[in-house]
Amino acid sequence: MSSSFSHGTSLALPMAIAHRGLSAYAPENTLSAIRAAHEAGHQWVELDVQLLKDGTPVIWHDASVNRCSDGRGRLRNLDLAAARALDVGSWFSARFAGERMATLEEALALIDSLGMGLNLELKLSPGHDTRALVEKVVPMAVGALPVGRLILSSFDPQALRMSRERDGKVMIGLLYDAIPDDWEALAEDVKAVTVHADWRALTRVAASRVTATQRKLLCYTPNDAAAFSPRWAWGVSAVISDDPGIFSEQDLAQSPCTERTLS
Ligand code: G3P
Ligand code: MG
Repeated sequence: MSSSFSHGTSLALPMAIAHRGLSAYAPENTLSAIRAAHEAGHQWVELDVQLLKDGTPVIWHDASVNRCSDGRGRLRNLDLAAARALDVGSWFSARFAGERMATLEEALALIDSLGMGLNLELKLSPGHDTRALVEKVVPMAVGALPVGRLILSSFDPQALRMSRERDGKVMIGLLYDAIPDDWEALAEDVKAVTVHADWRALTRVAASRVTATQRKLLCYTPNDAAAFSPRWAWGVSAVISDDPGIFSEQDLAQSPCTERTLS
């Protein structure tokens, strides 16, 4: 399919984005992980957002709180008071004991105050209400950050379509494991600026199809710069990594693009 798409080419992304904040060094998806990314010199973070039972959007990856807190059970069964009672730092390190689950509002305020960019992933766990998430999250995110410092992404095509209906200007990224053959139809529908793929599933052919449309290609979640390295030459614009500091100028030298900057 040919594309008349052109906007988004001015998107200034660093070559490496901190996945769930700087999650190699701080508990993922917390305010500490955002601060750690900033302190390490990274300009953008990726975070996941979901709704609590009372409709509060919070920064959280899993459907349950079992892995990353001292509690148990489903995230969507918690109201804000119950979510805030959890310790979401000790599981990672005693240094982060007492860390509290971040609301989207808090994360947006911190990111804006630090002048950072955000790839906000609309995370739809099974049984979650797509429209409720979009209606709550999109206005908050768009209201908090300038257009050039926010990308909304999701594995859920409906979430992306609803986000585009809700806001005509926000930058949208398609999120895939492997990029399917029909990706460009959705990209046109939602006027996607970026395509995000699992680096292990990326093929050179799929990469070339994305870059041919002037959209930026992002890869998650490489944490081994040497193993990832050949893919820079495929036109990858940025990686989303738990440890973005492992990527260097030498990686950039292999890329056909010259516009990007180190994070
Ligand atoms: O947005 C890229 C990446 O975060 C998608 O996978 O499971 O880490 O949210 P996941
Ligand atoms: Mg994510």
